[in-house]
Amino acid sequence: MKGILLAGGTGSRLYPMTKTVSKQLLPVYDKPMVYYPLSTLLSLGISKVLIVTTPKDKDSFQALLGDGSSLGCSFSYAVQPKPNGLAEAFLIGADFIGTDSVALILGDNLFYGSAIQKQSPSAGFTGGLIFGTHVQNPERYGIVELDAEGNVKSIEEKPKTPKSNLAIPGLYFFDHTVVEKAKQVKPSARDELEITDIHNAYWKEDSLRVAILEQGTAWLDTGTVQSLSKAHVFVEAIQSRQGVLVGSPELAAYKEGFIDLPQLKALALNYKDAEYGKYLKRWIDEQ
Ligand code: TTP
Repeated sequence: MKGILLAGGTGSRLYPMTKTVSKQLLPVYDKPMVYYPLSTLLSLGISKVLIVTTPKDKDSFQALLGDGSSLGCSFSYAVQPKPNGLAEAFLIGADFIGTDSVALILGDNLFYGSAIQKQSPSAGFTGGLIFGTHVQNPERYGIVELDAEGNVKSIEEKPKTPKSNLAIPGLYFFDHTVVEKAKQVKPSARDELEITDIHNAYWKEDSLRVAILEQGTAWLDTGTVQSLSKAHVFVEAIQSRQGVLVGSPELAAYKEGFIDLPQLKALALNYKDAEYGKYLKRWIDEQ
């Protein structure tokens, strides 16, 4: 399975912080935001990742993350000239996806917990799989309504009067037919190619599964000042209480066997005296 990390967008809700800096390059506690979704993809065993950015931010992402080879991975880059919506990722990434299945993760979504690995599909799956999780402010998200048997009844993007409070987090899995489906999507009233139209296309084919995020899995999106601030506090609390590094691509790459312990040690040294490097070194010493 391949991975697409969508890190474009405008980030207007975070102005003025994002006037000149991509939202996904802002810090969440001790590391850039993009580290978190990238680690999530790696922790799912995905080593080939396409990072989609705005034209002006591409060089910065490339300077930060490189070609992935030091992590035993392959990172490539593509630009989205305008924020035309999430479903455009599959048009931009059409050649990259080829005949593989693909996981799309949003660059401002933070997942924590190991259950997500268990709940994610394996490479050869067909159809689509999305997650659902209960939220208090459903009008802010894509929302899925299920019937008593757990079948999808409706899927709507940011509904004014939500039919459920089951939000769809920004991590989706599709087989390669997603590219053809994306080609059929027409711009919505807000002039975006909506990811919910992709979900609906799979649903109409009866090949969309919805997995309810298990308890113990945290999902945070960091698109508003309040949610970004909560994410800082969350990461700080977990790291200081449990002594584990949340959102480390290096650790994820090691745990997935993409690199070995000496390679991880060498990567930790690059961080010199930064807290991030100290966490990594402590973790390595405990092995
Ligand atoms: P959003 O938070 O919906 O949009 P945004 O990042 O532009 O922020 P704002 O609404 O404050 O202006 O985007 C969710 C994620 O998807 C985020 O990581 C940016 C990314 N994205 C793209 O890469 N391309 C797009 O066309 C859109 C709409 C979002």
